[in-house]
Amino acid sequence: MFNILSQKKQSVGLDIGSSSLKAVELRSTRKGCFELVGMGFEELSPDYIVDGAILDKNSVADAINRIFAHEHIKNNRVATSISGHSVIVKKISVVAQQEADLAEAIHWEAEQYIPFDIADVNIDYQILGEDDIDGKWNVLLVAVKKEKIQDYTQVLTLAGKVPALVDVDAFALQNAYEFNYEPAGNTTAALLDIGSTTMTINIVSGTEFLFTRDVSVGGHNYTEFLQKEFNLNYDTAQHLKHGEKVGTISDDDAAHVIDSVTEIICMEIQKTFDFFKHNSTVENIDRMLVSGGAAHTPGLIDALGRKFEIPVEIFNSFRKITADPRQFSTPMLEDQAPDMAIAVGLALRSAEA
Ligand SMILES: Nc1ncnc2c1ncn2[C@@H]1O[C@H](COP(=O)(O)OP(=O)(O)OP(=O)(O)O)[C@@H](O)[C@H]1O
Ligand SMILES: [Mg+2]
Repeated sequence: MFNILSQKKQSVGLDIGSSSLKAVELRSTRKGCFELVGMGFEELSPDYIVDGAILDKNSVADAINRIFAHEHIKNNRVATSISGHSVIVKKISVVAQQEADLAEAIHWEAEQYIPFDIADVNIDYQILGEDDIDGKWNVLLVAVKKEKIQDYTQVLTLAGKVPALVDVDAFALQNAYEFNYEPAGNTTAALLDIGSTTMTINIVSGTEFLFTRDVSVGGHNYTEFLQKEFNLNYDTAQHLKHGEKVGTISDDDAAHVIDSVTEIICMEIQKTFDFFKHNSTVENIDRMLVSGGAAHTPGLIDALGRKFEIPVEIFNSFRKITADPRQFSTPMLEDQAPDMAIAVGLALRSAEA
């Protein structure tokens, strides 16, 4: 939805997550139709990106180049996105006599909503509509710390790519949802992207954005709890989490620890829903779609369904995207469907631009 930089056409989406890179290349076949032509995944060491800051840019740039080489992606114009504490997304109300005066009014107003020095952020906005009564405009305000944008664009430049578009994870996710699910106007959905360290929650009614929040929980917490409980190193705990047998640890004992972390994630979602409902006229969330690597966590989808008593599904990033079965098998696409949501949203966005 937003482009912090400029709007240029290309169709590679690159999701730079704290635990892995995800790349998707799409080709526009007919108007409004897309085919998957490239898809790649590269794990990153947990010390490359810490607390949202890219500490080892060279290693991340190398990993980007490995994906592009492996997937034969020639297009070097790349769309990426940012999440976490350096991103502020808010619906605000701004008084202006006419549309032409809005830009100045928004920059003026923005200061009170942004907990950083205004000189340190890039601001973008979208006009949602005018309130006829008193010249108030409803505006979606997006502010991202400049240093964060620099981090992400520098790493792309280091890899020899052109950072063509920088979006926000929540909007890339919404873009993938709108394209793949064509939601009806009255359906309110909670889109949850649960990564390694960040859970992005985006609440959308039809195609209208309502609310987003990033919470610092994710798959990493499962690994951490398993490490502590069974005294394991990181890699072994990851294997255990992914369902492999580790030593004499029983499935039940592992499941018990996993369920306790799921409980924490459910509580965080509940807190966000409570906050949202308190500040919104929308009373019900009709469905939940879960993406991100942690969507694979055993028992998570069922636990969410039980807790929130609404239909909960794994997000299918390729629901409306065609793919050559000789290159992308159905089981492979099913397996990667939740992981690629943000990369697909970015590739769609840039192909549409
Ligand atoms: N089969 C699986 N079972 C359980 N957890 C899994 C599985 N596959 C991936 N994960 C977990 O998903 C997480 C990675 O998800 P994802 O790739 O969406 O995160 P990220 O985008 O790198 O991180 P973030 O968005 O938080 O910066 C890791 O914690 C990983 O262990
Ligand atoms: Mg992620």
